Amino acid sequence: MNKILKAGLIAVSMVAFSGGAFADEAKDIKKGAKMFKKKCTACHTMDKGGKAKVGPNLFGIMGKKIATTEGYKYSTAMKKFGEGDKVWDEATLSEYLKKPAKLVKGTKMSFSGIKKDKKRNRLLAYLKTLSDAK
Ligand code: HEC
Repeated sequence: MNKILKAGLIAVSMVAFSGGAFADEAKDIKKGAKMFKKKCTACHTMDKGGKAKVGPNLFGIMGKKIATTEGYKYSTAMKKFGEGDKVWDEATLSEYLKKPAKLVKGTKMSFSGIKKDKKRNRLLAYLKTLSDAK
């Protein structure tokens, strides 16, 4: 096979591969959105500037400083957990949502958690979309 043809084939297969990854991500986000609706909207809104329910609004939660939604009364446990300007990144959100009361002892979020990594990752993929930076 000549070199140019080979390089062309590699380029084409790379495009096809990343296209597949995008499709998977879109599927994850869709499934995550469904999960959010089922498991989280009883206590949380997710639209920009949305009001607090039992829990705080979650727009822009990925990368946001912990326990900093204006006007929401967090538990002492959550405020302590966020001390030192800690932010919700993928790792902390994943650990929290696996078992909230384990990571933040004394949190007033009464939710047992999502045990399966795969499911949590879908939810995280969705939470990432709740942002202005798309
Ligand atoms: C039964 C009500 C309830 C459910 C269901 C619930 N939460 Fe919460 N959530 C809360 C409360 C209350 C808090 C405030 C916790 C505190 O101050 O200790 C909170 C806090 C949070 C925080 C921290 C917010 C911040 O501003 O630092 C995140 C993130 C979060 N919840 C995500 C979720 C997700 C995702 C789901 C669905 C899988 C969910 N919650 C389900 C009640 C709930």
